Amino acid sequence: METDMQSSKQTIDAAKIRRDFPVLNQQVHGKPLVYFDNGATTQKPIAVIKALTRYYENDNANVHRGIHQLSERATNGFETARKKVAAFIGAKSERQIIFTRGTTESINLVAAAWGRKFVSEGDEIILTEMEHHSNLIPWQLLAQEKGAVLKYLSITEEGTLDFTGFESILSNRTKLIAVTHMSNVFGTINPIKKIIRLAHDRGIPVLLDAAQSVPHLPIDVEHLDCDFLAFSGHKMLAPTGIGVLYAKRSRLENMDPYQGGGEMISSVWHDKSTWNEIPHKFEAGTPHIAGAIGLGAAIDYLNTLGMENITHYEQELTTFALDKMMRIPNMKIYGNAPERGGAISFNIGNVHPHDLSHFLDQQGIAVRAGHHCAQLIMRKFDIAATTRASFYFYNTFEEIDYFVEQLTEAQRFFDY
Ligand code: ALA
Repeated sequence: METDMQSSKQTIDAAKIRRDFPVLNQQVHGKPLVYFDNGATTQKPIAVIKALTRYYENDNANVHRGIHQLSERATNGFETARKKVAAFIGAKSERQIIFTRGTTESINLVAAAWGRKFVSEGDEIILTEMEHHSNLIPWQLLAQEKGAVLKYLSITEEGTLDFTGFESILSNRTKLIAVTHMSNVFGTINPIKKIIRLAHDRGIPVLLDAAQSVPHLPIDVEHLDCDFLAFSGHKMLAPTGIGVLYAKRSRLENMDPYQGGGEMISSVWHDKSTWNEIPHKFEAGTPHIAGAIGLGAAIDYLNTLGMENITHYEQELTTFALDKMMRIPNMKIYGNAPERGGAISFNIGNVHPHDLSHFLDQQGIAVRAGHHCAQLIMRKFDIAATTRASFYFYNTFEEIDYFVEQLTEAQRFFDY
């Protein structure tokens, strides 16, 4: 264990990396900031901040339109970012990369542009009880509009998907399986290869909510063979308001447009229009150009560290944290999946998560408390909320030691 930890400490030198993140170098309530709310959003390295500043200071113009130097530079930056995203997730072509506002918009895009066309009354969509609201509500809206049926894979006490009866809920009316790759509550990494294989054996497409996985794991969409994949830039060092939808080319070609406006058209008449080619057909209006360029810079940064190194380091941090947290009296940790990432949800006795997170904030520690936009999970476990610590590669073993000390203090303070 010690040898492994040493080796990954050498590949991921968190102390050195932290110098790239100015926001981490501050005190909160007089204590050094410990930022453990990475599942909600990650911090930004200087390289990303500089890419945004450089763009606004030198190149700002609209894309794909102006025949002038600045517009050409902006277009080049924007389209280069698309190529970086494609390479990062192993997509065959950058045409399969659609820039959106984030995971939520990516999934809404599929529900509207694919779902409205291909889902009819009585058709079925398979979801899981582990889903974050962004992979639930778009399907509820579609099902209500179309008279379609939502079916759910349930979850076990361990915070894993319960595959008992999975094959029996698939039918010739099943139009889609939409599932999270990594749970934002339990950290569970789902066996998506198995799900995709079973689905494809029956000709059913699969959408992966990869908001929590793309920032932390190496992803290869060709190898996974998923039909749709959605993720957000801000959970992987990039600005808020930029995200990605990847889809198989034939799916995108056959989908209707999502929103109407400039950029997505080819020719316009009084009563009808024809559509631009993919991906532009799905990018109506002026996009978040700086955001895409920032996402490209974030990908460069992640590639320099190496996604495998990041995964390995975070797994060590998580094992270290779980081991220490489990020794705290009255600690209840939700989820115990054999394959998991660095999101840990817990409660201590009857201490309300809001009180606990307030206590931790006073000690400089930022965590999230609440239902984590996953109310189905809270219902299943019959709880209103949990506290969640979620790590990224710039977190350290020392921060976890301090966090565990403060949890022990909190346990004494609230005396439950
Ligand atoms: N999905 C984000 C989270 O889990 C907001 O915190």
